[in-house]
Amino acid sequence: LGVKPFEFVVFGGTGDLAIRKLMPALLFSECDKRLPEESDIIALGRSDLSRDDYIAMVRAGCVKHMADYPFSDADWDAFSRRLSYLQLDADNGHDFLKLKEILDRRRDRVRVFYLATHSDLFGKIGDQLHAAGVITDETRIVLEKPLGMDLATAKQVNEQIGRNFREDQIFRIDHYLGKETVQNLMVLRFGNSLFEPVWHHGMIDSVQITVAETIGVEGRGDYYDKSGALRDMMQNHLMQLLCLVAMEPPAHFDQDDVRDEKLKVLKSLRPLSDADVADKTVRGQYEPGAIGGLATPGYLDDLAIGESQTETFAALKAEVENWRWTGVPFYLRTGKRLRRKFSEIVIQFKPVPHPIFNQAARGIKANRLIIRLQPDEGIKLIMTSKVPGPGGIRLQQTPLNLSFSDVFRSRSPEAYERLILDAVRGNSTLFMRRDELEASWAWIEPILDAWQEDQVELSPYQGGTMGPNASTALMARDNRTWHDGEET
Ligand code: BG6
Repeated sequence: LGVKPFEFVVFGGTGDLAIRKLMPALLFSECDKRLPEESDIIALGRSDLSRDDYIAMVRAGCVKHMADYPFSDADWDAFSRRLSYLQLDADNGHDFLKLKEILDRRRDRVRVFYLATHSDLFGKIGDQLHAAGVITDETRIVLEKPLGMDLATAKQVNEQIGRNFREDQIFRIDHYLGKETVQNLMVLRFGNSLFEPVWHHGMIDSVQITVAETIGVEGRGDYYDKSGALRDMMQNHLMQLLCLVAMEPPAHFDQDDVRDEKLKVLKSLRPLSDADVADKTVRGQYEPGAIGGLATPGYLDDLAIGESQTETFAALKAEVENWRWTGVPFYLRTGKRLRRKFSEIVIQFKPVPHPIFNQAARGIKANRLIIRLQPDEGIKLIMTSKVPGPGGIRLQQTPLNLSFSDVFRSRSPEAYERLILDAVRGNSTLFMRRDELEASWAWIEPILDAWQEDQVELSPYQGGTMGPNASTALMARDNRTWHDGEET
């Protein structure tokens, strides 16, 4: 599988991400026998914990987060043998020498430093790793999002990391790129000859991208309140999805070609003026409500604070100004405490040029291709069909439905499983390059600024709805509606 023996070193080893996502992903890889024998995991954190304490913590996390796929005792034993814990303070050079001592016992292994901490610390950690002399030629550094708070801080972090690591050693993670269906989107477009000929403004009316969550801020209030939906989700996950839908076919499926094409999309995005931001963006914050019959608290209650201007919902209309996409709006929305958890991309095709069956009068809409990222990953093509019967032609919209779980009966791997092993392999196709990240911040920046100055009102929405009315209005102004994730 091309995975060489490695040392996986996690900064922020006791944090939410490590316990909820990284360790379960590594354990899944263990269960699937994808981890080479000679490979170890070293978790770093500021708490004073014994190795046993840490292992117990990881085990509890894995039991909770892998509930649907219980692991065997043998797999757990093999996995836990790899784990160790080292107390480390990022300010203390001496602690890094202790890390060096451990790493130097196995000098020939690939080293992966995974920075699951706030990006403020990235520069300092890079410097300390350099000073301790642990950066070998076969070392990679993985940076968790959000990388910076705006363009200036993103550039700063990139420069700081660039002092000690080459660009090909830097892996900026966006876990959406590791999701199966997201990779499948590229296969759908470039592995089939059917879609590319219709993938342009002549055939496509508009594109919608929705990432809807039912959860609130889940104990991450400190981080989230400084961040908000625009930085937490839109700048990275949704913008990446937009790039994959809109990019030109790359010459090869490799890190340079794919990322070059994504960058071109970001550069083709029409820059937003203040008037555009006022017109084409929506920010919202959830209020108390109910999801699936259960009462849900408001954002301020979740955080136990009296006031906050942080958005938990963001929607916008973007335009890709190039030959392929001229005149095709891309509508993006994401939010917490919405009605249902679902993520999907909807390609809305144009109506037939000459409707001989009077589709419009019968309420029949044009074809739609729905790419479901979660739940129930799959692809659905909405078509118009004739209802069987002798009484003339009656029309109905019918789905052609491909559910990946029906076709591929195996477990669909978590995004982090794929991405961690890609980082070990040194394959950065599914990671963000520096120029890409900065281009995406540059486009988002006018929105950040205008929202900061309250040029767009923060609209409240009830938990369990699909966001504020302003989001519906954004579409209605263009005579369109959001796809609600359930309709055919
Ligand atoms: C993370 C965000 O990047 O993505 C979270 O920080 C969000 O706020 C999460 O909940 C959503 O990821 P997924 O894989 O559950 O869609």
